[in-house]
Amino acid sequence: MPQPLQGELIRLRAREETDVDHFYRWINDWQVTKFLGARYVQSRKFESEWLASGDPGPQEARFVVETLDDQKPIGWVGLHPGFPENRTAGLGIAIGEHEFLDGGYGTDTMRTVCRFGLEMMNLHRIELSVFDWNTRAIRVYEKVGFKHEGVARDAMWKANRWHQLAHMGLLRGELR
Ligand SMILES: CC(C)(COP(=O)(O)OP(=O)(O)OC[C@H]1O[C@@H](n2cnc3c(N)ncnc32)[C@H](O)[C@@H]1OP(=O)(O)O)[C@@H](O)C(=O)NCCC(=O)NCCS
Repeated sequence: MPQPLQGELIRLRAREETDVDHFYRWINDWQVTKFLGARYVQSRKFESEWLASGDPGPQEARFVVETLDDQKPIGWVGLHPGFPENRTAGLGIAIGEHEFLDGGYGTDTMRTVCRFGLEMMNLHRIELSVFDWNTRAIRVYEKVGFKHEGVARDAMWKANRWHQLAHMGLLRGELR
């Protein structure tokens, strides 16, 4: 049986309070947050409390992404289920360490977390929204099997303009 939280390049693990330094850095880095819904800066205190706010479970499955070869934390990923009846979770992901972008780590993280959601959480559907100009992320989502499900027009105001949000979803059986 394969290790459910391990990919080919990364491993997913629980968040620890000792992760505060890199989360604080990532969430206050515009090169990371410009791709996300996040707008406001966050304090170290907020990050510490958030990191202490619970282990992965059926309500929220948040993980640190770390490299498999030397356990370096490089980002985060989370599955956020809603009503259990729907067996659907929203997904959020970011690789915060710049030198690990475009190296296959995001694709491996997506495959690993989606496999975990399907095989261990018994999800039927995983969904996400992405700025329509974030072509790198969209490429990764398509590559692992997410389908385009429509675009919400002027759905987010950020950095002095409206953004179109592409909605994408993956059903059980579609993960590649
Ligand atoms: C999106 C993200 C998770 C992808 O992870 P990654 O490790 O950088 O991506 P990978 O190296 O696994 O794959 C990138 C793919 O996109 C392609 N790509 C790179 N830049 C691209 C661009 N500007 N436009 C289109 N495709 C692009 C690469 O060629 C590669 O595809 P390939 O394997 O077919 O060659 C990561 O870039 C990230 O965290 N970005 C910042 C935060 C973010 O955008 N989060 C998602 C918000 S919805």
